Amino acid sequence: MTRWYQEKKKEYFYKEAKRTGYRSRSAFKLKQIQRKFKIINKADFVLDFGAAPGGWSQVTNEIVGENGKIIGIDLSYIKPIKGIQFIQDDLTKKSTILKIKKIVGENGVDVILSDMSPNISGNYSIDHANSIYLCKQSLNLADQILKKNGNFLCKLFMGEEFDDFFNIFKIRFKNVKLYSPPASRKSSSEIYLIGRFFKK
Ligand SMILES: C[S@@+](CC[C@H](N)C(=O)[O-])C[C@H]1O[C@@H](n2cnc3c(N)ncnc32)[C@H](O)[C@@H]1O
Repeated sequence: MTRWYQEKKKEYFYKEAKRTGYRSRSAFKLKQIQRKFKIINKADFVLDFGAAPGGWSQVTNEIVGENGKIIGIDLSYIKPIKGIQFIQDDLTKKSTILKIKKIVGENGVDVILSDMSPNISGNYSIDHANSIYLCKQSLNLADQILKKNGNFLCKLFMGEEFDDFFNIFKIRFKNVKLYSPPASRKSSSEIYLIGRFFKK
């Protein structure tokens, strides 16, 4: 794909986000993933990790409807959205994990989404390792609070540790997919891991 075409595509999703009122271009990635894999259902309880500025939470809100529940967590402040609880905190901290577990309670959640990105250093290996670390944090929390048959979606920057992580990921779900939505830039090394039907 040419650079010109990539820029056009980026511009297109940027304009679409403005036109439709979504807070991020990423919102279209979740829409494309949802259309293909149906990871979120009506009335689900969903955790949205790395939620700022709130695009994925907006899309999720439309899907789960009035009887659903969403908690979004990010290092950054997120402008409120009616019916969604936002927590400004670091998901790699023990205190944040404890806070989330307390709010979720014994019944667990139906879906965990993570679009978390580490601070990009520009060094491919470091960015990849940090991305794997964030995915491991999410998966570790999934082990504790994702319901049996729940679904999990996680963004990852590709690299040398991928195979090892994928091995620990895939044994946890009955169905596993890797997907790069059209709204992702072709040049980007990001890929989405989708795990459906958590074995618990
Ligand atoms: C690509 S953005 C997410 C966009 C979002 N899905 C949307 O549609 O609006 C990635 C986010 O991950 C967050 N993030 C990175 N590390 C984090 C951490 N340790 N804890 C919480 N959030 C984190 C960043 O602050 C950033 O807002």
